[in-house]
This record gives sequence, C-alpha cells and structure tokens, in this order.
Amino acid sequence: MSVEVAVIPAAGRGTRMRPATRVVPKALITVVDRPAIQYAVEEAARAGATEAVIVVDLDAGHLVQQHFLSGGRLPGLEHVKIRPVVQEEALGLGHAVREAAEAVGDRSFFCLLADNIVRPGHDVLGSLEAAADGLSAVCLRRLEDDFLSRYGVIVPGSAERADSTLDVAGAVEKPGPENAPSRLGLIGRYLFTAEIFEILARLKPGVGGEIQLTDAIDDLGRRGRCRGFVAAVDLLDVGTPEGLIEATAVLGENRAASEPE
Ligand code: UTP
Repeated sequence: MSVEVAVIPAAGRGTRMRPATRVVPKALITVVDRPAIQYAVEEAARAGATEAVIVVDLDAGHLVQQHFLSGGRLPGLEHVKIRPVVQEEALGLGHAVREAAEAVGDRSFFCLLADNIVRPGHDVLGSLEAAADGLSAVCLRRLEDDFLSRYGVIVPGSAERADSTLDVAGAVEKPGPENAPSRLGLIGRYLFTAEIFEILARLKPGVGGEIQLTDAIDDLGRRGRCRGFVAAVDLLDVGTPEGLIEATAVLGENRAASEPE
C-alpha cells in the first residue's frame, strides 16, 4: 500500500536563525530559488504523496498556503493537495505531529522536517517504505560524539542487515555521549502508522519540557513496531546559518549543473 500523505512540521521557533526568522517563518527562508518547505513537499511528491499536511504557527499558515497556491500551481506539484494545520504554541515536535492527527486519520504517513533537505539524488522515503514493511520506520545516521547531545538516538533491537535496515527497540532524546544507547541518530525523515497518534496523545513533556517525537518512537520500539533505515549520506540542515551556507552551495551547484545550456 503506497503512502499518500506527508506531514511536514514547520512551526518551530527558529531561534537559531534569528534575526531572519523574526518575521519570516523558518520554513519560508529561501534556499537558492525556493523556500525550504518547497523542497520537502517536492521530495514527498517524488515518493508518491498527493497530500502535504504542513504544520505551521498562527502567523505562517496563510503565507505557506499563498506560496503554494497563489499565481497557479507550482510545476511538479499540480497534484499535491496542500493542507496547512496550525500549532498554536510551539510545544515540541511530537506535539506538532499530533496536531496533524485529524487531517491524517488512520492512514500511514511520511513525516519530513522542513529544515532538513535531502541531498540531490539521495531520497530516502522509498527506502523507509521498504524497511517499514507495514510498521513504522525511521531514518538514521551514524553520529559523531558532538551530535549525540543534539539528536534523538535509538536503542538497536537487532544488528544492521545487508540492506541497511534494523529493528528499533527504543529511543532517547539528546542522550549525550555518556548515555547514548548507540550512535544511530534520528535525522528528520520518518514513516509512521497512525498508531503514533495514540502514543503522542498520552505523552507527557520530556527533554526541554517539550512533547518529544523521540519519546513516541521509544514507545513504538518497545512494542516491536519500529524499523530503522541507515542512510548513506546526511541531510542538509538549513536550520542554522552554517547549514544554510552548505545547503546553498550544494543545491546551487546542482541547480547550475541541471540547467539547460
Ligand atoms: P528544531 O529542533 O529545529 O526547533 O525543530 P526550532 O524551534 O524549529 O528551531 P530552533 O532550535 O529554535 O532554532 C525541528 C523541527 O520541528 C518543528 C520545526 O519547525 C522543525 O521543522 N517543530 C519544532 C514544530 O513544528 N513545532 C515545535 O513545537 C517544535
């Protein structure tokens, strides 16, 4: 069964991109020639999604909608229905995903963090679908020490198989190098069955007082309901100035190379 809906949480505060994000939502910051959020919708469309549920804050909703719909449909996205959903308060990534529950219903869905853009030619959503095999699946990368305090890290439930998949037995948000259960970090691409919504509805605030998506992944893992896919390359992080510079270089070069003479 193919996945038709993608949830794109884009309602974070974007403090690491101040002052750019004082007025402009982080998801609408331009990377080369289009806003970050458009890359995520295009990626979901390439994987076959026909509906994008974009979780925005109160101010961004109409701007996001205007970007996708004013002046006619964007090329390549003619068949994607854009549905902004408002997260009134930035209570965490898990809370943002929970806000999409009504729009998604009982369907499985891709989840893409808009401030992480895939490198050209390195889409992972299809691999997540294959890895999930009817369960949920999370995209992983082997992390250096520094990153273990900044990402969610999984508890492996099996060895990594030849096809780069493994079972996930749990997850911990920002454990740090001393407490990390592995080096495999969650990197912003997921495929969830709708059971994640029941888990998120019961979650209490975790690290940083936020409702953490990682805590819901922990629950899925403990029940044997989650697989992992270890990606070959990392994503481009446009949520920081340094990351945005790298993303601009990589995506700009790709754009120049693919332009007709
Ligand atoms: P980040 O951890 O990057 O947080 O969120 P942030 O608030 O956007 O940015 P900083 O740390 O203040 O600079 C990861 C993803 O989750 C979304 C963000 O938009 C981003 O895509 N998010 C986070 C929400 O949609 N709502 C939240 O309450 C928190």
